[in-house]
Amino acid sequence: MAYLEDDQKIRQIQSQLDIVELISESVQLSRKGNNYWGLCPFHGEKTASFSVSRDKQMFYCFGCHIGGNIFTFLMKRDGLEFREALEILAAKAGVDISRPRDRGRIDQQKAIISINNAAAQFYHQKLLSAQGDDARSYLSKRGITQQTIETYRLGYAEDNWQELTNYLLGRGFNAEAIKSSGLVKRSDNQSRFYDLFRHRIIFPIMLYNQDVIGFGGRSLGDAMPKYLNTPETELFSKRKNLYGLAQAREAIRQNNNAFLVEGYMDCIKLQQTGIMNVVASLGTALTEEQARLLHRYTEKVTILYDGDEAGQNATLRAAIVLREAQVKVEIISLPPGQDPDDLIESSGKKEFWHYIENNVCSDIEFKLNRLILATPVLELDDKIRIINALKEDIDNLGSIVERDTYIKMLARKLKVEENLIYQEYRQVHRHKFSGRYRNNNGINRDNIKYGKYGLQEKILAAMLKSPDLYDKIKSRIGIKFFADDVYQNFIREYERMDGTPEEKLHRMMTAHPNDSDASAYARIAMLMGEENEDLYIEVEEFIMRVEKKKAEREWQRIYEQVETLADQGNFQSIIRFVINIDKTAHFAREGDAL
Ligand code: CTP
Ligand code: MN
Repeated sequence: MAYLEDDQKIRQIQSQLDIVELISESVQLSRKGNNYWGLCPFHGEKTASFSVSRDKQMFYCFGCHIGGNIFTFLMKRDGLEFREALEILAAKAGVDISRPRDRGRIDQQKAIISINNAAAQFYHQKLLSAQGDDARSYLSKRGITQQTIETYRLGYAEDNWQELTNYLLGRGFNAEAIKSSGLVKRSDNQSRFYDLFRHRIIFPIMLYNQDVIGFGGRSLGDAMPKYLNTPETELFSKRKNLYGLAQAREAIRQNNNAFLVEGYMDCIKLQQTGIMNVVASLGTALTEEQARLLHRYTEKVTILYDGDEAGQNATLRAAIVLREAQVKVEIISLPPGQDPDDLIESSGKKEFWHYIENNVCSDIEFKLNRLILATPVLELDDKIRIINALKEDIDNLGSIVERDTYIKMLARKLKVEENLIYQEYRQVHRHKFSGRYRNNNGINRDNIKYGKYGLQEKILAAMLKSPDLYDKIKSRIGIKFFADDVYQNFIREYERMDGTPEEKLHRMMTAHPNDSDASAYARIAMLMGEENEDLYIEVEEFIMRVEKKKAEREWQRIYEQVETLADQGNFQSIIRFVINIDKTAHFAREGDAL
C-alpha cells in the first residue's frame, strides 16, 4: 500500500492483535513445540498440517502451502480484499484507519446498509405474515421450501406505494439516506416518496457477513419487468457481486469449486437439490471483478448457464473471463430452452444430478462442440478453421499430456489424422513450449512437496537467521543465485532496506504482497523457526558447489581464449595471456544463477 500512514497503522494493528487468538476463532489449535497446530481451514484434511507461530505472527499450511499474516488469513478465510481485511482488523484492534476525507462516504454506506438490513427484515416478515399468502403460494408452486426462504431471507413487498417508506421513516431513518438506498423513489413532481418494489418477491443480495447491499424483486405474475433491481449505487454494483455468495462461500471453499448460474431462482433451486456451492451472476455478462471474487474462494468454477443460444454464448465469454482470472473452468450445457431451475422441476433431483455428472466438459471441449454444431457440413476448410480456432487454447495448456488428449479429441471429432493436427500445431509449440497457464496458488502447490523444503528456501532462511552467514554467502558467491522470482525479489528488496536485520525481516514478513508471495514468506518464516543442525553444513556444501561451477566456467573461458590465440599462431599473446591468468582467473564477486 502506498500510504505511509497506513504502514504505521498496520504495525499498530499487528501489535494489538494476536494471530493465535484470531485463528482460534475458527480453527481449533493445539500447542506442539513452538507452534500451534490444527486442521487447515483452506483444504479438507484429517491430520493437522496447519501451523501458527505466535513468535512470527504467521501461519502456514504444510498441506496446501497457503500462509501469511493476520491480514492474509482473514482475506483467505472470508474472501476479502486487503482493504476490507484491514478495516475489520482495525476495528478489532481499536485502531482508527479512516482517512478524514473518506469518513463521510463510509458513514453514508453504513447508513444505507442499516436501512437495507431493516428493509430485508421487513419484507421477510411480510412474506411470513397473512399478507404474504399469495407470495408464499407462488414460491411453493415454484418448489421453494420454507428452509430456503429462511436461508436466503426471501421476502415480499406488498402491492402498496408507501409501505416501506412509512416503515423506514417510522423507524427514524434519515429521509435522504432512505432515498440513497434506492428502495424509495421520489415522484416526478418531487412532492412525495414511493416504494420501488411493489407486489414482488424480494431477493436480498448480501455480503459475506450477511449485510444486505441490494435487492432483486420478481413480479408474481407476468407483470413487466420480470425483475427489478436496486439501482447501481456506490454501495451496490451488480458487476462486483455474486448472488448467493454469503450462503455458499463455505461450501465453495471446501469443494474448491463453485457452480455458476445466471438467475436468482437457479441459484436457490440448485442449493435446494444439495448443490451448496452455487452463486449467480444475475443475468449480466460475468465481469472481471466477479471472476476475481470467485478466485478468492476457489480454483475452479463450473458454469451452468441457460441452455438457450444467449446462455451458451455467455458461457463462452464467462469461461474466458474466468481463465484470465486464473480460474480453471468446467462447463455443463443444458438442453436447449432450459435453465437449471427448469431442469430440476421437469426431471427431479435424481435425474438432474445424473445430468450434471454426465455432462461436464472442459472449456476447450465446449468451444469445440459449439464450433462443430455451428457448422452443419464439415468440409475440409471448416476443419482447418476449427483446428486453428483452438490452436491457442490448446497451446496454452501447461502439460503435454493434456495437449495430447485434446489433439486426439480434435482428430476424433473432426475425423482427421492426428498427425495432421500435430503438424499444424508444431510451429507454435516450438516457440512457446512452456505452460503459461499457471495458477497463482498452484505455483507453490506444485513445486513444494509436503513438508520438504527446497535448497533455495533453506539457504534463504539460513541467511536471514544469521547475519554472519548472510555476509559470507554474499561475499563468496553473491546473492543472485535464487532461481525462483519470489526469493529473488525478496532478497533484492531486503538489500534495499535500512535498519537492523530484525527490523528488515519484520517489515518484509508483515508487508502484504500477493497470495503466493505471502505463502512463500510464511514458509521461510516457519523454516527459520526450525532447528536444523545440518543447515550450516548444507549451506557450506552449496557455496562450494557454486564456487566450483564458477571456477569451471572460468577455466572453460580461459581454454577457449588460449585456443583462439593458438589458432591465430599468436604465441607472444599466448605468453602474455598466461602470465595474466592469475589476474583474469579471479572470479567475479557477484555470483549468478546456477
Ligand atoms: N434479470 C434481471 N432483470 C430482468 C431479467 C433478468 O435482472 N429484467 C436477471 C435476474 O437476476 C435473473 C437473471 O437475470 O435471475 C436471469 O434471467 P432469466 O433467465 O430471464 O430469469 P430466471 O432467473 O430464469 O427467472 P424465473 O425463473 O423466475 O423466470
Ligand atoms: Mn428460470
